[in-house]
Amino acid sequence: MRLSALLLLPLSLALASASQEPLVNSQPTDEPTVEPAAEPTPKNAYLASTELFPPGPEVAHLTTGSTLDIEPPLSPRHEKAKAQLLDSLIRTPQNWARSHPRYRLLEVLHGLRRHEYRYVEQLREWGEAYQTLPEAQRELIRASTTYHTNFDLIRNLWPKNGALATNILEHALEYYEMDPAELASYIETAEAQRSWDYQPSITDALNHLVRDWTADGAHEREPTYAPILATIKDLLAKHPADAGTFKVLVPGAGLGRLAHEIAALDPRIEVTANEYSAYMNTCYRYVTTLRTPSSTSWHPYINWWSHQPSLAETTRAVHMPDVSINSSSVLWIEGDFLREFASEEGAYHAIVSLFFIDTAKSSLDYLDAFSRLLVPGGSWLNLGPLLYGSSPKLQLNLNDLLAVSEAMGFAFQPTPEEFGPLTLPHRTARARELGYLYNARSMRRNTYQAQFWVARKESRTYTPFPPPEAEPYNFAPGSHF
Ligand SMILES: *[C@@H]1O[C@H](CO)[C@@H](O)[C@H](O)[C@H]1NC(C)=O
Repeated sequence: MRLSALLLLPLSLALASASQEPLVNSQPTDEPTVEPAAEPTPKNAYLASTELFPPGPEVAHLTTGSTLDIEPPLSPRHEKAKAQLLDSLIRTPQNWARSHPRYRLLEVLHGLRRHEYRYVEQLREWGEAYQTLPEAQRELIRASTTYHTNFDLIRNLWPKNGALATNILEHALEYYEMDPAELASYIETAEAQRSWDYQPSITDALNHLVRDWTADGAHEREPTYAPILATIKDLLAKHPADAGTFKVLVPGAGLGRLAHEIAALDPRIEVTANEYSAYMNTCYRYVTTLRTPSSTSWHPYINWWSHQPSLAETTRAVHMPDVSINSSSVLWIEGDFLREFASEEGAYHAIVSLFFIDTAKSSLDYLDAFSRLLVPGGSWLNLGPLLYGSSPKLQLNLNDLLAVSEAMGFAFQPTPEEFGPLTLPHRTARARELGYLYNARSMRRNTYQAQFWVARKESRTYTPFPPPEAEPYNFAPGSHF
């Protein structure tokens, strides 16, 4: 999933101003800016230390409905993936870099640790700004609205959101087997070096929780998943009964709802999902511990007062999850898609790229991986726009992307008209207007003319591509059969 909400956040959180300490890291380089402190602080010290936590609100306590104690046993496939994941997190002096999975995890945990504090600080600034209005204006506002009381009201809701961030953080420490002292040491050193947590990405991940796992996201999920689920059902019906499981790969799986929806279609389907972002992965690991519907809630709209129709809407709670989640129905692989799946070939009957292909440096690397990973005759389903990000080396238009896909041996299949009108004549891509990360009751609409297509892998005869650029740290790529 892309981090598409970054540009939509309040400026005070997204940008550093000259007069303030920055809330964001400067442009990441691969050089680690933070070295571990020589003497780690005692276990759990970070939870209590006022030194590490700048003056401000109290730390949120665990009040949401975590159900960690009833984690089901892992399947052998899940156990192997977990062992590989923990291996990938091992740091050495040679492999330590900002792109190292452990470094990226520490950055996320730092952000979760500061989430409530940063936003309460922002709220305090908004309150101070209000106080600078002329008294005559405030007098009218007081006489006709409750605006002047909103600051305290919303201040009192923040501990609920802080508790969600704390729960995600604490589950991550346990899941990734990280000593809290290591995080405390990281935060202490980072902040001493004025390297700050990055709240836009935390907020983006929490917004994806709303999209994927609450009733508030249904307006986006249903039209998005409909053509994909219908196509997978159709492909499964044609999959011979004696051909074993129908294997589906979902790269760029975000917070996993689509992968879980596909898995729920039929017990013959085996789903593997992959996500690079440690922000998404820590939230995914947490949400899949919540097996009871509506067992946790928070107020996702209190952090941005633009586009709000009323105070009731700003302060509304959402409940999560909207369905009970079976964490073992999907195998979740963290890390870079091109590397994590580099050693597999002909392993999947279908690959579903949802809002994914435009996140590559070169989309051709992804298409090449799809071609390698699919069985002969396997299907590639795509849905999404072409919003090139992450310093792309290639930004093909739709027509050219489809032409290159054909040259790479994909044959585009006819799809039902109900999935949307054709975007280009003589091409089978269908346009679907899809919402992305907006509250349907707000005054904002964020939509894409996402393109849906289904292509069959017919051949793989082009000159092999060189392997994609190596990461600056190294360990053996996993195999997820
Ligand atoms: C969860 O999914 C696994 C794997 O598909 C399955 O074996 C198990 O029965 C499911 N559990 C429940 C409670 O549905």
